[in-house]
Amino acid sequence: MSEIKVPETDIPKMEDKETNQNSESTFYTDAKEYWSNIPATLDGMLGGFGYISSLDLNFSERYLRDILKSSQAPQKLRALDCGAGIGRISKNLLMKHFETVDLVEQDTKFSEQAKVNCTGSEESAKRLGTIFNIGLQKFTPEPKSYDLIWSQWVLGHLTDEDLLQFFQRIKLGLKENGVFKMKQISSA
Ligand SMILES: C[S@@+](CC[C@H](N)C(=O)[O-])C[C@H]1O[C@@H](n2cnc3c(N)ncnc32)[C@H](O)[C@@H]1O
Repeated sequence: MSEIKVPETDIPKMEDKETNQNSESTFYTDAKEYWSNIPATLDGMLGGFGYISSLDLNFSERYLRDILKSSQAPQKLRALDCGAGIGRISKNLLMKHFETVDLVEQDTKFSEQAKVNCTGSEESAKRLGTIFNIGLQKFTPEPKSYDLIWSQWVLGHLTDEDLLQFFQRIKLGLKENGVFKMKQISSA
């Protein structure tokens, strides 16, 4: 059965008040504040470009099919959706291919909406694993537990240092032949 987990590390402690004075914490609290004011809708997730969702998912579907039929394909057992928002990718892509899908999303309202969206059908409800309501900068996957880790349009929210450490933890969270997919928009 699915559950939304709020790890203890995400509950503010007294000492965090001091840490919040520094700019790194402001980086995270500002982003948290920004997303707390965004509606839990497709347009909210995609900055007003909700209409590109199906196009984006079609490209991702083609990519994933190629990966899954490659010579060193990952198994189709467990996937993780990082910065999952309202579960757009989990529901429309990952749950079609993987037996269990876990999500990491730091905003509580998005996590709750993701649970609603991902349990809309009996089939997807069976596939929803755990929703980790925590920032990626604090998230550590269980070692060797995921066949696919998907991260889309979220890693710009990590500081450079946290991003490097996140990559190291993600690597340890992958099973043999596991794949990490990062999808970002870049500009030059
Ligand atoms: C542009 S939305 C993308 C959502 C989803 N990946 C998609 O493509 O539909 C960015 C998401 O990242 C989440 N987010 C922002 N900073 C985060 C952090 N440090 N850790 C985890 N999630 C974060 C936001 O709450 C939001 O749901």
